[in-house]
Amino acid sequence: MTDREATMRHTASLLGVSALLLLTGCTQGGLDPRGEEAARIYWVFWALVIAGGVVSAVVLALWVVGPLRPGRDDARAEHVPDPAFHRRLVIGGGIIMPAIVVSAFFGVQIVTTAAQTQDGELTVEVTGHQYWWELEYPDVDGLESFETANQVHIPTGTPVRVVLRSEDVVHSIWVPQLAGKVDLVPGRETEFVMDAEEPGTYAGYCAEYCGLQHTRMKFTVEAMEPEAFRDWAEAQAGAAREPETELEAEGREVFTGQSCVGCHTIRGVAEAGEVGPDLTRLASRSKIAAGTEPLTEATLRAWIANAQAVKPGVQMPPQELSREELDALVAYLISLE
Ligand code: CUA
Repeated sequence: MTDREATMRHTASLLGVSALLLLTGCTQGGLDPRGEEAARIYWVFWALVIAGGVVSAVVLALWVVGPLRPGRDDARAEHVPDPAFHRRLVIGGGIIMPAIVVSAFFGVQIVTTAAQTQDGELTVEVTGHQYWWELEYPDVDGLESFETANQVHIPTGTPVRVVLRSEDVVHSIWVPQLAGKVDLVPGRETEFVMDAEEPGTYAGYCAEYCGLQHTRMKFTVEAMEPEAFRDWAEAQAGAAREPETELEAEGREVFTGQSCVGCHTIRGVAEAGEVGPDLTRLASRSKIAAGTEPLTEATLRAWIANAQAVKPGVQMPPQELSREELDALVAYLISLE
């Protein structure tokens, strides 16, 4: 293989790897925006990719063309540095060009940030915990504030103000199709606005390494037509439903009689627990453990008995319950629609 062939192969493989890396991020992510805020970021992304691509292409071209210049070995042997040429190269390529490119992007960023919607018509307060998301809806018209977890519901076509806090370490909330990433910082309040144009379920992630189960700190945003959202909110607010069977009633006793109440709230039953998710409408959620498992009797039972086996490192300790107690507790919790 000649030098020339080797250089071309090397270049081709570099380009191939770059293209692959770029394409793997395409599906269901920020490259398929479904809201106004996400669409703005989408255009910044492409501006960066195109400008970065042009700069890379120029540098690559110089890199390929340089060594291929005919007679380069002779030229190298007799090479005498030209100080004036080097000065021009450093000032032009090392100072002026980067200054223009970086300033242009600074401008793009300022314009994009200024264009972001500042006010929402609805507020969702999100508190990050290792490793789940606490959600509170304080201002749905005519309803008392209510809490839920890990499944954010929003009405379509409505800018939603998302207020962020953290209970422990830094987390970062990211719904690629609806908005950019924003950090949740302990001791500080941050916020952003997101919106969804169409109904649908949008995947959300914690985008800042926050501990052992960072990758399983997932959530979803369920965008619904405004009337459907209203129905959902009305069903969420208020106290938990009463037990309908003897087993469910026994389960409620287990809940209030055991350590569950130290961490979890069920509205109208026990409201002091603030460490774990609010369970008032647990059965209205499709997943448990922040998207780790589907909600079924079996997964709930396994979770309560020993959450550490399902998601090692979570704050919930194994529960020492008899088989009967566990049966009753699961029957009660799964009835909480
Ligand atoms: Cu929370 Cu990563």
